[in-house]
Amino acid sequence: MCGIVGYVGPRQAERIVVDGLRRLEYRGYDSAGIALVHEGTIASDKRAGKLSNLDKALADNPPPESSTGIGHTRWATHGPPNDQNAHPHLGAEGRVALVHNGIIENFAVLRAELEAEGHELVSETDTEAAAHLLEAEVVAGSTLTEAMRQVVRRLEGAFTLVAVDAQDPDRVVAARRNSPLVAGIGDGENFVASDVAAFIEHTREALELGQDQVVTITRDDISVTDFDGAEQPATPFHVDWDLSAAEKGGYDWFMRKEIFEQPGCVADALLGRHSARGRLQLDEMRLSDQDLRDVDKVIVVACGTAFYATMVAKYAIEHWTRIPCEVELAHEFRYRDPILTRDTLVVAVSQSGETADTLMAIRHAKAQGSKVLAICNTNGATIPRESDAVIYTHAGPEIGVASTKGFMTQLVASYLLALYLAQVRGTKFGDEISQIVGELEQMPQKVGRVLEQADAVNALAADLAEARSVLFLGRHTGFPIALEGALKLKELAYMHAEGFAAGELKHGPIALIEDGLPVICVVPPRGRDQLHDKMLSGIQEIRARGARTIVLAEEDDEVVRPYADTFISLPKVPTLLQPLVAVVPLQLFACELATLKGHDVDQPRNLAKSVTVE
Ligand code: AGP
Repeated sequence: MCGIVGYVGPRQAERIVVDGLRRLEYRGYDSAGIALVHEGTIASDKRAGKLSNLDKALADNPPPESSTGIGHTRWATHGPPNDQNAHPHLGAEGRVALVHNGIIENFAVLRAELEAEGHELVSETDTEAAAHLLEAEVVAGSTLTEAMRQVVRRLEGAFTLVAVDAQDPDRVVAARRNSPLVAGIGDGENFVASDVAAFIEHTREALELGQDQVVTITRDDISVTDFDGAEQPATPFHVDWDLSAAEKGGYDWFMRKEIFEQPGCVADALLGRHSARGRLQLDEMRLSDQDLRDVDKVIVVACGTAFYATMVAKYAIEHWTRIPCEVELAHEFRYRDPILTRDTLVVAVSQSGETADTLMAIRHAKAQGSKVLAICNTNGATIPRESDAVIYTHAGPEIGVASTKGFMTQLVASYLLALYLAQVRGTKFGDEISQIVGELEQMPQKVGRVLEQADAVNALAADLAEARSVLFLGRHTGFPIALEGALKLKELAYMHAEGFAAGELKHGPIALIEDGLPVICVVPPRGRDQLHDKMLSGIQEIRARGARTIVLAEEDDEVVRPYADTFISLPKVPTLLQPLVAVVPLQLFACELATLKGHDVDQPRNLAKSVTVE
C-alpha cells in the first residue's frame, strides 16, 4: 500500500505534491519521491526513509519551477526500501516518470522482454518495467494517455499507475485496477491521488474512479476511459470529512479502518504467489528446495497476536506437510534450551520485524546453525534482514497498535508457507494445492461478508459494555482465535478476558462460570464432526450454569443455534481456514467496546506498536 499524488494547474507542483504525500504517509513511509515536468525535462528526486528525507533533499537542492508533477510515498513490496527502489521510476530516456501502488504479477516476464531488447533496469521493483514500457510507447508516437492504455492491457495484478511525459507538460495520466485512485476537481487545477486526504485542503469535489479505468487530468479537464479507450462515466462526490477523518478513510479509528481493509489485504497477500500453471511462487524465498526438503522440524516463534498466528500455522504445517511443528513464545524460546539442528527451520512471525524478543530468538537459532524464515509486514526490517528467507505479508502500514490486518495476513502467509513446503516435499499434489489456494482466493469475499455484520457486533458490544469479564472458547484452530479475541479485549477495553481451549473448561475453568457471564464460543465447521459435537457439549455445559453464550458458527448451523443467546454467523470455510473469518467479529467487538468506554483505540495505554526491548 503506497501513497500517490498527481497535480496539474497554475501553482507550484512541488509543494502541492509533497504536502499531499505528507497526508498519505500512513499508507507507507519506506521512501518518497517526486517528479516534475520542466521545459521538456523531468526533474526528479527520491530518498529512502521518511518523507522528511526527501523534503530535506529538496530544500538543499531546490527543483526547477513546475506546474505539473507526481509523487509517491512507498510501502515496499518488491525490493528493499532504498533510494534506487524508491519511486518515481523513469523510462530508458528519462522522458516519462511513473509511480505505482500495488503488485504487477507478470513483471518478471515483462522485465525479461525489456532486457532482451537492450533496456537496462537498475532497480528491483516491478514498477520500473512498467515505466520503460510506457516510455517506449510514447517515444513510438502515442500520447501518454494512449500509451497508458496500451501498457495496462499487458499488466496482470493490482496497480494504480500515475505518469507524466516531459514533452507533454499539461497532463497527468493515471490508471487503476484493484487499487485505489480518486481524482480531485479544482478551479483551473486538478488532482489524482490514492485517496482524498492528499487534496482536500485544495478541493472537496472529487471523482470516484472505477475498475480498469484510465484518467487524464489537465488544468481544465478530467477525462475517463476504459482500458480500450471507450469514454467512461465517473461518479462525482463531495468530501465532507475533515483531514483527520480523511486519513482514516472516514472511520473513527485507524484500527477500525484496518479491520475493514482486511478483504483487500488478504487478496494482496495472495497476489502473484500462485502461477497460472498452479505452482506456488514465493518471490522472497531464498532457501533452496533441497534446504526445505531437508527440514525435519519447524519451530514457529513470535509474541502477542503474532504468536496466535503461529498456533494456527502449526495446524496447517503439520496437516499439509507432515513435518513436526512446535510453536513457542519468542521470549521463552532460547531459555528453554531448544533442540536445534541444521535441519530445523525456525519461522519468525512479526508484523513490525523489530520485536526484540523475536529478534533474539532468531539470533539464537542461527547461532545453533538452524535456518530462519521470517513472515513479516515491514520490508527491510531487522528480522527479515537477519533471516535466510522472508515472506512479506503485504498488508500495508498497520497504524493501530492492536494488530488486525497484520494478524490476518500473517495467517495467509503461514498457509502459503505450509503449502509451499508441501509442494517442495511432494506431500500435496499440485491440484490439491491449487484447490486450497482456490479456497484462499475466496476468503476476501467471505471476510467481507462477516464485516457486513458489524452493526450486530457493535450492538453486542453496547449490550456488554458493563461486563466485568468475558471468556472466549475455541477448539482446534478456533483455540488460537479465542486467545486472540481475549487479547484484543484486554489491550483495548482494559478489562479481564481469558481464552481457553474449550476442552479444557471441565478441567477447572468451568468454575468461573456464573449467571450472566458472557462467553464467546468459536464453533468449528462441521467438516470435522467430532470437534463440532464436542464444542456443542461445552456450550451446553456453560449454558446450564448460567453463562450468556455468544456463538460464532457457520451460517446454517441450526444444531448450535438454539444454545446461542447471540448468534454471529460465519461463512462456510474449511476448518483450517476458519481463523480468517472467525477473528473478524472479535476484532470488531473489542474495537467497539473500547470506543464505548472512551479509550484511545489506536494507541491503547501502556502499549507500543513495536516492542523493541526484551
Ligand atoms: C497485537 O495486538 C499486539 N499489539 C502485540 O501483541 C503484537 O502482536 C506483538 O507485540 C508482536 O508484534 P510484532 O508482530 O510486530 O512482532
